[in-house]
Amino acid sequence: MNKNDQVVLTITGYNSEAQGVGRVEGMVVFVPFALKGEVVKVTIIKVTKSYAVGKVVEILEASKDRVAPRCEYYKKCGGCALQHASYAESLRVKKEIVQNALAKLGGIADANVQDVIGCSRPYEYRNKSAFPLVANGEKKLELAMYRVLSHDPIFINNCPITQKIMQIAANAFISYANEHNLAQKTQFRHILMRFVDKKLLVVVVAMKKVFLDGLFEHLCTATGLGKDSIGLFLCIKSQDNNVILEGKMVHVAGIESINSTCGGIRFAISPNSFYQVNDEIMQKIYGQAVEQFGSDEIVVDAYSGAGLMSAMLAKRVKKVVGIEIVKEATADANTVKRQNGLSNMENINGDVKTVLPKLGKELGEFSLIIDPPRKGADPEVLKTIGQALPRKIVYISCNPASLARDLRLLLGHGYTLSLVQPYDMFPETQHVETLAVLERK
Ligand SMILES: C[S@@+](CC[C@H](N)C(=O)[O-])C[C@H]1O[C@@H](n2cnc3c(N)ncnc32)[C@H](O)[C@@H]1O
Repeated sequence: MNKNDQVVLTITGYNSEAQGVGRVEGMVVFVPFALKGEVVKVTIIKVTKSYAVGKVVEILEASKDRVAPRCEYYKKCGGCALQHASYAESLRVKKEIVQNALAKLGGIADANVQDVIGCSRPYEYRNKSAFPLVANGEKKLELAMYRVLSHDPIFINNCPITQKIMQIAANAFISYANEHNLAQKTQFRHILMRFVDKKLLVVVVAMKKVFLDGLFEHLCTATGLGKDSIGLFLCIKSQDNNVILEGKMVHVAGIESINSTCGGIRFAISPNSFYQVNDEIMQKIYGQAVEQFGSDEIVVDAYSGAGLMSAMLAKRVKKVVGIEIVKEATADANTVKRQNGLSNMENINGDVKTVLPKLGKELGEFSLIIDPPRKGADPEVLKTIGQALPRKIVYISCNPASLARDLRLLLGHGYTLSLVQPYDMFPETQHVETLAVLERK
């Protein structure tokens, strides 16, 4: 097979990026935006030793699950991968992604992976969005997204997976900025927004200080939100890099944080706080994680973030110890502890790799929640778990590949896998969140 060949193939499954997979003369071909059961004519755009990639030229037989994407920038912007699939099919795709990862990378071919728990709102669900701000040829500011795997901006005026009010706020900022010719006064980088519990935080990120007089009122009018429901910030960057929020955060007007509750826990979200992007699914996962533990247990919440799940656990179990590396997140967790009067919640700031071995020895018998970043748990953490042997482990993962590799090791320490429950935290994208439960034999 060679680049630029045209071939016809039937899609028989999906790869880890939610792309269709078929075979031609024994060679695996990945076909983005193709669905299982479809017969497609593709142009081969890449050939490697083990696989090829094809771009659809014509769909010869379409799946009954093919739907029209809602986003006009779909396929150009790299954010979504499943808008061409019915929602039911996109959940099946994600189940297959988890099953394949467990079988191929974890050697767990017999895992009983549950159907993916879906979101009641597969569009307009994101409670946080950050759009690059780019000046066009006429020095007018535009909202942008980056073209797939590149830094080429595509100018946009909506993002259908973002909650509507943030799309309105972003466009209101653009009209304000252009009316005041702000693109000529500073370089803007991003607009970041969070919308939780009918309250909106807007952060304009720029390379130097710029006056935003009247913007707050303009945002209130455009969104229909009252002055006590919006907070406006200017983040002045100290370095010209890709980190969105860094430098000096100046509160311009309105509220400084959003006070919310989840699972009976009161907490505050500020522009920098870690908070899951899909509140509905977050509540379901946290709920299922917490209910795995009994009232007499000591639970270590490793990679605990801002402590929301630790706090929910503290209401149920004897004692919870959270471990988190980011100082600000541990400070947020301590605020949650104080605000909710949780004397049985302890928050340790440090690396799980160094804290867990000592803590495990001190605690003796304990159970564990582990919710690591995409790369999975540190090998030393898995080794410590193998020595401390917590009674039960709840592993929450946003990356099926690292989950599979880590589960393989944990199962080797004498655990059985009693539950694998994927959740659709990021509808329309290829990403899937999974909760797995391991019990000591
Ligand atoms: C996927 S988030 C989970 C946060 C939290 N469980 C939640 O649901 O909000 C992973 C967290 O692990 C933290 N983290 C990353 N590496 C770490 C390490 N080596 N030790 C401790 N925490 C770490 C990150 O700062 C982040 O807050």
